Amino acid sequence: MTEGDLPAIMAIERATFPYDAWSEGMMRGELAEQPRTRHYVVALVDEVIVGYAGMAAAADQADVQTIAVLQAHQGTGVGGAMLAELLREARRRCAREIFLEVRDDNPRARGVYEHFGFEEIGIRRRYYDDGTDAIMMRKKLDG
Ligand SMILES: CC(C)(COP(=O)(O)OP(=O)(O)OC[C@H]1O[C@@H](n2cnc3c(N)ncnc32)[C@H](O)[C@@H]1OP(=O)(O)O)[C@@H](O)C(=O)NCCC(=O)NCCS
Repeated sequence: MTEGDLPAIMAIERATFPYDAWSEGMMRGELAEQPRTRHYVVALVDEVIVGYAGMAAAADQADVQTIAVLQAHQGTGVGGAMLAELLREARRRCAREIFLEVRDDNPRARGVYEHFGFEEIGIRRRYYDDGTDAIMMRKKLDG
């Protein structure tokens, strides 16, 4: 992902996360850290951006920062392809484990993460602004 992608990215961000979308400034801040500690990708269908995902990596740990797919393209393999790329990049950077947080009320994303081998390791009570808990998940990458 580059700065030129931001208009498309922010449209997807606001449509996907209407109550807690990142600001464009936050997204720019993430891109400014590429490639040092961040790796952001976009997914294209017929040359149009339909999704994006980003990872942070430092020392031997990584975090999935965000992932979103336009609603019309969800369930078609786009998110899985991006998640697989983030896991590859985390391994390339010698991360031994990768973490993420997901809303307790997002069973679809939790199912996708479990499908990719993430395991629940804890709960952050009332982590989100509306009082919803965050489920913390981890996948070990070594071996
Ligand atoms: C979560 C999200 C990124 C997943 O992307 P997607 O494109 O819909 O997912 P895919 O179709 O690529 O599915 C990925 C894999 O998970 C599997 N999967 C999908 N839903 C699943 C579920 N509920 N339980 C278990 N596995 C599931 C799929 O079968 C697929 O596996 P395969 O590649 O082996 O066939 C997407 O649905 C999305 O943007 N949702 C809204 C935003 C969001 O919730 N983001 C995450 C915030 S933490």
